[in-house]
Amino acid sequence: MIRLLGAIMAACILRTAAAQSVAGKATEFVPVNSPLDCGFIVRPAALAVLLSPEAFDPSQCQAVIGVTFNGTEVDMRVAGSCDACEGNDIEISTEGYQVLGAPLGSTIDVTYLIG
Ligand SMILES: *[C@@H]1O[C@H](CO)[C@@H](O)[C@H](O)[C@H]1NC(C)=O
Repeated sequence: MIRLLGAIMAACILRTAAAQSVAGKATEFVPVNSPLDCGFIVRPAALAVLLSPEAFDPSQCQAVIGVTFNGTEVDMRVAGSCDACEGNDIEISTEGYQVLGAPLGSTIDVTYLIG
């Protein structure tokens, strides 16, 4: 039991150490109840995020990323990549924009943690 706890704690520390905060621009995307690169259905009300083709790797599918805009952080699930994105740019679902308090349709500056 104690060994198991130790292993879990070590895994958490490694995860924290590996995660890095990056800054980029975000634009809005509107989920239409269809799967994107990750293969799961992205519902209109989903808190979903798409990474640039360079940053996206299928192993990140379903990973939860904390995206911060203007002091508000919202956890969003990786659903695929966005063709129009470069580098650290991301796309955020409409629901994500709303929860972040970002003006719909605008390009916003965000930071996020990626593992
Ligand atoms: C950031 O939040 C403040 C306080 O809630 C608000 O007044 C301001 O308009 C927001 N800035 C942007 C870029 O949305």
